[in-house]
Amino acid sequence: MKLFLDTANIGAIKQFAAWGVIDGVTTNPSLVAQEAGVTFEEAIKTITKLVDGPISAEVIATDTEGMLKEGREYAKWHKNIHVKVPCTPAGIAACKAFSKEGIKTNVTLVFSTTQALLAAKAGATLMSPFVGRLDDINEDGMALIAEIVQMYENYDFTTQILVASVRSPEHVAKAAVLGADIATVPPAVMETLIQHPLTDKGLEKFLADWKKTR
Ligand code: G3P
Repeated sequence: MKLFLDTANIGAIKQFAAWGVIDGVTTNPSLVAQEAGVTFEEAIKTITKLVDGPISAEVIATDTEGMLKEGREYAKWHKNIHVKVPCTPAGIAACKAFSKEGIKTNVTLVFSTTQALLAAKAGATLMSPFVGRLDDINEDGMALIAEIVQMYENYDFTTQILVASVRSPEHVAKAAVLGADIATVPPAVMETLIQHPLTDKGLEKFLADWKKTR
């Protein structure tokens, strides 16, 4: 399974890119708005230099023509740009048009199996179900991932399932067990993926025992 970072924070991207296991980056208007002093274009272009993999840049327009105009512009910035469009009628139509033009896409704000079906039929490169936001309203985000994995397998859809709105290491582990293609992980959760108290305790003991031999 691929691991993306879900942030527009350059410091965090540099920190985790150093681990060598980051395959891409997703951003959204809320994440970009948290980063002061840089334009959207500057932020995205900087990210493309730090991570060699899919970089999602989201459109702001809500009509198909507006989305196409913005997305065609983003696509010129770097070959790895994936134009992120919302899973609305206008977004699905834009996704289909981008797909015909060879522009890579990420259909976002997906909350149901039928939305995932439409994204795949529109030729989306990536499709982002938001698991945490479903859990927030007492639905089961990971149950949706299981259904979509099964549905895409049934029809050999090539759209990749990008598990988004990840809130915990359990979300990442379950995404991998279910066979999702990608999980996009915020920095605070990425940090927890490596942590285990027994690793720290074990290392402390190894080093202490080694010192006794000197
Ligand atoms: O990339 C979008 C998505 O991951 C947002 O997550 O935590 O705002 O629901 P969240």
